[in-house]
Amino acid sequence: MSRVAIVTGGTRGIGQAISLALKEMGYTVAANYAGNEEKAKAFTEATGIATFKWDVGDHQACLDGCAAVAEALGPVDIVVNNAGITRDGVLAKMSFDDWNEVMRINLGGCFNMAKATFGGMRERGWGRFVNIGSINGQAGQYGQVNYAAAKSGIHGFTKALAQEGAKFGITVNAIAPGYIDTDMVAAVPAPVLEKIVAKIPVGRLGQAHEIARGVAFFCSDEGGFVTGSTLSINGGQHMY
Ligand code: CAA
Repeated sequence: MSRVAIVTGGTRGIGQAISLALKEMGYTVAANYAGNEEKAKAFTEATGIATFKWDVGDHQACLDGCAAVAEALGPVDIVVNNAGITRDGVLAKMSFDDWNEVMRINLGGCFNMAKATFGGMRERGWGRFVNIGSINGQAGQYGQVNYAAAKSGIHGFTKALAQEGAKFGITVNAIAPGYIDTDMVAAVPAPVLEKIVAKIPVGRLGQAHEIARGVAFFCSDEGGFVTGSTLSINGGQHMY
């Protein structure tokens, strides 16, 4: 039986590329999503990848959602914590809700998913977590105290859980993407984005599949000696 992988936010953007890459590796993939059911249905029709709807920021919904995946596809061996949102704004204009939603979903989602799946991986003696951080969690970003804090938290979460998982055959790693050509980055005002791209040594935005290759490596059997590591894929924008 092939290993089962859950990719949160797995039907769009970077998550979609990750779902496809893991499927190509022969894994059975469950793509989690929180939004539009019609679009998720179209994704399944186009790719053959099953989709499951829940909010990763909701603890009970994660427990129930992961149980539904295990029931439908088998025990969960791999979790890619990719789901994330932005609520950008300078501190003076940022509401508590803007802060809290980003923390709840981007960082809380990692905790919720781990609570739902870590125990089973430990019992079976094999597991993979890949947490999608960000260059902005490493370097900070004007207008993103919420997002930078949540993503920075993901890097700490990764190193702590890696220490707990190591003796059970569970690796926990992070990827810190730079600016990738997705809807999230397209929402940055054009003049601001132009200035950001001008600072990327490679001279362009990244592509979602370039992040997915890194995730695929971390999720492979060959990646078993790599844990607590962060792979920066950012075109040289921040050398960490
Ligand atoms: N450094 C210093 N000053 C900056 C700055 C920066 N990086 N960016 C903007 N400013 C300054 C402006 O020059 C301006 O100064 P003055 O008032 O003196 O003229 C002031 O800040 C206000 O700028 P805006 O007009 O842009 O203010 P705003 O309130 O309309 O918008 C903002 C603020 C929402 C933060 C907007 O600048 C923005 O969207 N910035 C981009 C944030 C960003 O990079 N988000 C990443 C999203 S993608 C992602 O997060 C994925 C990932 O992991 C990489």
